[in-house]
Amino acid sequence: MTKLAIIGGTGLTQLSDLKIIQKEKIDTPYGAPSAEFITGKLNTTEIVFLARHGNPHTIAPHKINYRANIWGLKQLGVEQIIAVAAVGGITNKMAPAHIAIPDQIIDYSYGRKHTFFDDEKHPLTHIDFSYPYNQQLRAALIKAAASVKINVSPSGTYGCTQGPRLESAAEIKRMEIDGCDLVGMTGMPEAALAKELGIDYAALSVIANWGAGKSSGEITMAEIEENLHIGMANVAKILKAFLSDTCHN
Ligand code: HPA
Repeated sequence: MTKLAIIGGTGLTQLSDLKIIQKEKIDTPYGAPSAEFITGKLNTTEIVFLARHGNPHTIAPHKINYRANIWGLKQLGVEQIIAVAAVGGITNKMAPAHIAIPDQIIDYSYGRKHTFFDDEKHPLTHIDFSYPYNQQLRAALIKAAASVKINVSPSGTYGCTQGPRLESAAEIKRMEIDGCDLVGMTGMPEAALAKELGIDYAALSVIANWGAGKSSGEITMAEIEENLHIGMANVAKILKAFLSDTCHN
C-alpha cells in the first residue's frame, strides 16, 4: 500500500475525522518541521497528517520550514502527498469556495530554502519539473471528486507569491497575463522539494477569495473564513472518496 500524507493549510489545521494513532516529533538535518507528524486512520486507511502552518496556526508562509516538513515525511516512508491549501481565484472559473486541482506552477516567491541539493552530502541534481504535480495522483483526486459529485477544476496554473500580505491588483493582473489561474503562498518550494525526494505530490486548492482587484471592495478575513469553511467540507468528502478507492485499501 502506498503511504499517503496530507499537508493541511489555512482552514485545515486538523483533520477532524482522523482517528489518531500516534504523534511524532521528528528532528531533521534542516531543523524542526512545522508540527508533530500525526499518524492516524481516515476511513480505514493509515495516513500521516501535518499542519503546514503549525498547530495552532502561527507560522507565516515565508517562515515555514518546507525542507524539514518534506524530509520528515520522507523519513516516515511517505510516498504520496496531497497538499491542501487556501488560494485566491484569478480566472473566471476560480470563484470563492470552489476547488481546483492545479497542473502547473509559477514561482514568484523568494529567499526560501528551496532545495535539498545544496551541500556536499547532496550533490547537485537538476530535477525535471516540467509537470510539478503528479499526473496519476491528480487523476485519482479528480475521479474521487466526481464520485461524490463535487465540481472541481481539473487543472489550473498556481502562482506562488511570498506573502504574508495579499497581492496588489496590478500584481494579480500581471499574474493573469503570465497565465496564473490561482494565487497562493505555500505551493513552492513544497512541490519542488517533494519532487526532489521522489514523493508524488498533488494539491487540492480551495479558493478563499477573488484575487486582488477581481471583486469590488477589500478582501476580508470574514469572507476568507466563510469560503474556506464551505471548501474544506468538500475537501473532506474528496479525501474520503479518494481513500475508499481500491488502491488505498
Ligand atoms: N493571495 C495569496 N494567497 C492566498 C489568497 C490570495 O488572495 N487567498 C488565500 N490565500
